[in-house]
Amino acid sequence: MTAAGQVESKRNAGYRAAAMVEDGMAVGLGTGSTVFFAMERLGERIAREGLRITGVPTSYQAAIRARRYGIPLSSLDEHPELDIAIDGADQVDPGLNLIKGRGAALLREKCVCDAAREVLIVVDPTKMVDTLNAPVPVEVLPFGVAGVSRRLSLLGAAPVLREGVKKDGPVVTDNGNFILDCGFGAIGEPRDLEAAIAAIPGALECGLFTAYKEKITVIVGEETGCRVVSLH
Ligand code: 5RP
Repeated sequence: MTAAGQVESKRNAGYRAAAMVEDGMAVGLGTGSTVFFAMERLGERIAREGLRITGVPTSYQAAIRARRYGIPLSSLDEHPELDIAIDGADQVDPGLNLIKGRGAALLREKCVCDAAREVLIVVDPTKMVDTLNAPVPVEVLPFGVAGVSRRLSLLGAAPVLREGVKKDGPVVTDNGNFILDCGFGAIGEPRDLEAAIAAIPGALECGLFTAYKEKITVIVGEETGCRVVSLH
């Protein structure tokens, strides 16, 4: 797939998701280039159709984009239950297990995913895999990073502290934490791995999303049109 084709695929996925949002909804807004197309189209619908929605952003970046597109914002405090959430993913397997967190927003993204009744995952076709095998990002309390890294190694990972770009030193998340990118190779049992990581004190959240497949709909953008995948 060419770079231009990938952008077109992301646009088609994002626009399809935006078309599924209804008047009056509270909408979780994920982070990343694909979901930003959904936000762009939601902004157009607000301006043209008078669509009334409230967005709950998953990162500073998502909030900044949403404001640019004229999407009114609120918080999980005000909307602990969301009608729908739209987010991207780094990998999706046939059982709709996900790896997320390239943008280091995984902790808030999982909170928003958990709060949503329905979750639309917008991806281009390169994200669809038979077996999850990308590095799993883990958000880590800085106080515990050495111990968490040791425990992740015992699970078979090779943890790498994520470094900033145009910023010396580690990436610091919107929550003030570090990210360890953990290569496990092919992940045979993603649900078990997610549970094992969650049991490590100081590992605040990981980028495996295995508990939400019943409410997830994956919208795979193509260069022309979309393919929609769900288990319901
Ligand atoms: C951010 C994420 C993103 O949703 C994921 O990385 C996909 O991003 P993109 O749509 O830019 O490919 O999990 O933490």
